Amino acid sequence: VAQPHALELLPGTQTPFWLYGDALSTAPGSPIDGPIAGPLIDVREGDTVEIVFINRLPQPSMIHWHGMPVPPEQDGNPSNPVEPGATRVYRFTLPRGSAGTYWYHPHPHMLTAEQVYRGLAGPVIVRAADDPLAEWPERHLFVTDLKLAADGAIAPNDMMDWMNGREGQFALVNGARRPRIAVARDERWRVWNAGSARYLRLMFDDGRRFEQVGTDGGLLERPRRDLTELLLAPGERAELIVRAAADGSASTRTVLTAGVYDRRKMAMMHGSLPPEPACALADVEFASGVDTPGAGTQVHRALPQHLRTVASLGEPTAHKSVVFSEKMDMAAMHRPGASNHGMPAGMSFMINGASYDPARVTLTSRRGEVELWSIENRTDMDHPFHLHGTQFQVIERELEGVATPEPFLAWRDTVNVQPGETVRIATMQSMRGERMFHCHILEHEDLGMMGALKVT
Ligand code: C2O
Ligand code: CU
Ligand code: CU
Repeated sequence: VAQPHALELLPGTQTPFWLYGDALSTAPGSPIDGPIAGPLIDVREGDTVEIVFINRLPQPSMIHWHGMPVPPEQDGNPSNPVEPGATRVYRFTLPRGSAGTYWYHPHPHMLTAEQVYRGLAGPVIVRAADDPLAEWPERHLFVTDLKLAADGAIAPNDMMDWMNGREGQFALVNGARRPRIAVARDERWRVWNAGSARYLRLMFDDGRRFEQVGTDGGLLERPRRDLTELLLAPGERAELIVRAAADGSASTRTVLTAGVYDRRKMAMMHGSLPPEPACALADVEFASGVDTPGAGTQVHRALPQHLRTVASLGEPTAHKSVVFSEKMDMAAMHRPGASNHGMPAGMSFMINGASYDPARVTLTSRRGEVELWSIENRTDMDHPFHLHGTQFQVIERELEGVATPEPFLAWRDTVNVQPGETVRIATMQSMRGERMFHCHILEHEDLGMMGALKVT
């Protein structure tokens, strides 16, 4: 159920939200503790999932299953709205190999950003039967963004929000502001960047190291060890291994932070704005644990060298090109009254030279054909590219004439593209129908940085 709720977040004020779920309290034992995230959908490969969606909002909506290989007519395309008051059932079967960390959110053209910043988004986990990390204790960090006006209201986007994507003054983890986390055992973390536009350069303030074991579409072949930071662009997810303190050592406290990342936000006239300051996500206490045999609490665990096989998709037999561009018409932007759905006039975000048009097919693919897509960013700011319907593999990234092969194979559905950069991905669609691809800064998506892919 997508419906309005109100919560007291700033003392003495009420913030009206739109949330998934009939009740504000989440199920006991649910790893998602805050109310400002939809309920966790926790399923397994092979499951057939049926979800009844009731739209109690004053706007059309639909649910998109971000990253999941569901049939096009079940995937919450903008062309399949559920009108206010209406109900529909989403039904899909999760194939073998689809284990991963996904999420769900609305996708109505020109209203996606608003529905997400009002609170509509939730996590999905698909589990594999042969998950080598199945025994590890899991922690979920579903990171969202909240921008409140002084009276507690969720204010509409202003011009700068539309231009650069909306970033609030609050980064929330599982709907809570800067929660406390106690790590007393080695843990597997799943982290979602479910914000409209905030980049998460994840790091611990004490510089401690962690491992990455998974991306959007599940486990890597082998752990990436000794990381001190990991960048998650809007829409991306990761699986990490975070370790308890060594036996006998003192507990230490640190902060999980989204460090400064310069995504080259545009300024109103010309040039760029300084990056956002670092933002604390959670206070983390690393306790030292001692293994007590028989107590059922294993503290330290060995991570397997080999997690799973990620096979290459093979030689591409077709090529596709996606070019991000933008155009700012300052005169039109400042003409009063020129707006559409509260979106400013004069700001164009484009793919292959045009803004999204529901009547137009941008690219065509053949079912089962391996394709090489080059995604080129001809703007002055970062844009995260996202493709529906399948996971892809990044092959190489080219910047200033230097192509760097991707050092490891991984399944992803979202990849950041820096200004001037070209990212090449291998991908294959397995079902006929319409798929979307777009920038996952949701304001840019709404302003037209989206295309339709027709799979025949
Ligand atoms: Cu998460 Cu088309 O989006
Ligand atoms: Cu998606
Ligand atoms: Cu963008």
